[in-house]
Amino acid sequence: MSILSWDDFDDDSQKSATKTAQPAPVAPQKAPVSQVVSDAQPTPQSVAATQSNQPSAAGRTTDSTDPLVRASKSLEALDIAPGLEELEMGAGRVEVDDKAMINCRADLNQLVPFKYEWAWQKYLDGCANHWMPQEVNMNHDIALWKSENGLTEDERTIIKRSLGFFSTADSLVANNLVLAIYRLITNPECRQYILRQAFEEAIHTHAYQYCIESLSMDEGEIFNMYREIPSVARKAAWGLKYTQSLGDPSFRTGTPETDQDLLRNMIAFYCVLEGIFFYCGFSQILSMGRRNKMNGVAEQFQYILRDESMHVNFGIDMINQIKIENPHLWTKEFQEEVIQMILEGTLLEIEYARDTMPRGVLGMNASMMEEYLKFICNRRLVQLGLPEQYPGVNNPFQWMSEMMDLRKEKNFFETRVTDYQTGGALSW
Ligand SMILES: [Fe+2]
Ligand SMILES: [Fe+2]
Repeated sequence: MSILSWDDFDDDSQKSATKTAQPAPVAPQKAPVSQVVSDAQPTPQSVAATQSNQPSAAGRTTDSTDPLVRASKSLEALDIAPGLEELEMGAGRVEVDDKAMINCRADLNQLVPFKYEWAWQKYLDGCANHWMPQEVNMNHDIALWKSENGLTEDERTIIKRSLGFFSTADSLVANNLVLAIYRLITNPECRQYILRQAFEEAIHTHAYQYCIESLSMDEGEIFNMYREIPSVARKAAWGLKYTQSLGDPSFRTGTPETDQDLLRNMIAFYCVLEGIFFYCGFSQILSMGRRNKMNGVAEQFQYILRDESMHVNFGIDMINQIKIENPHLWTKEFQEEVIQMILEGTLLEIEYARDTMPRGVLGMNASMMEEYLKFICNRRLVQLGLPEQYPGVNNPFQWMSEMMDLRKEKNFFETRVTDYQTGGALSW
């Protein structure tokens, strides 16, 4: 297959112009908007190509039932002001100082000039980490899952519970992002990352579905765990209560109460759901991979963990930036409420750990997991500028921290290098 060059495009447009150039159709009285706003001078080729794309209107100029006539008339009446989110046409260009995380009135369609470089950098980092579930080989997992004695019952429970929780939890996160957070964050570089994150959540849900399908699991059993298994359902229910009011399309920020509602939602989703609720399941599955069991599922989880640790850090950056710009929201009472939220999340995750590990398994047990979760709890609190609630706890799973930075390693499971930092770039 030959590589396309710009010469090919020029040739095509010239050919079609020569073959199909027609008398100009009914000319709109005003030029279309695209021409009004364009500074580019038309070239002979572009004019010919434009004309060749328009159907002939010969004999159709006055017929009001003609779709082309109706389209032309509609464009004559096109007002370019509506739809630009209460913007004044001709208002001054956006300056960095006009930008704000929430309740901002500056044009949200202009990505630059950047104010929050960290958000743009995270967007670039997220794109550089791109991966797809089908790239992971699941053959060994399928053979092991189907074999009689390959896995213990406790190991099977862990896999099912993890897929059960995550397969719906990532949808909860994605829906909250798109239906609640996105429209309330009034900053285009953060929105750019949120769009990237939303796609990553879709990839994660795809990855769980891919594992469930590959292993021929009972889909109904797995996808309904968040309603049927108490330790899974309680986590989902806890998150859902923070998305209900913000998911209402009429919800607006702009008062201290509603701005705090947004912060509560962000803390629930970024710090607790993604920042605590994922960590028991992640460490169980990754521990399984370290023991050379279910390597395909474990590799999928490893990529997901890398994405998730970036989501958590991005969310915490957003929360802290909102605090800086709106210090009146971060009251003593509100801080106490946030500490309680993080503690509630930790207790629910400890409950989940006990339910999924009634006995020691994979070199870990519920009390080690409890210590790990208290360590994570402290970390989330400190990231938000709040005091640790479990002083002196250590991280019993140092290897989890090492795993979160995949770029240091070729690939933990030494399957193949999936490095979009170089593989994703085209060379011409
Ligand atoms: Fe996710
Ligand atoms: Fe996430």
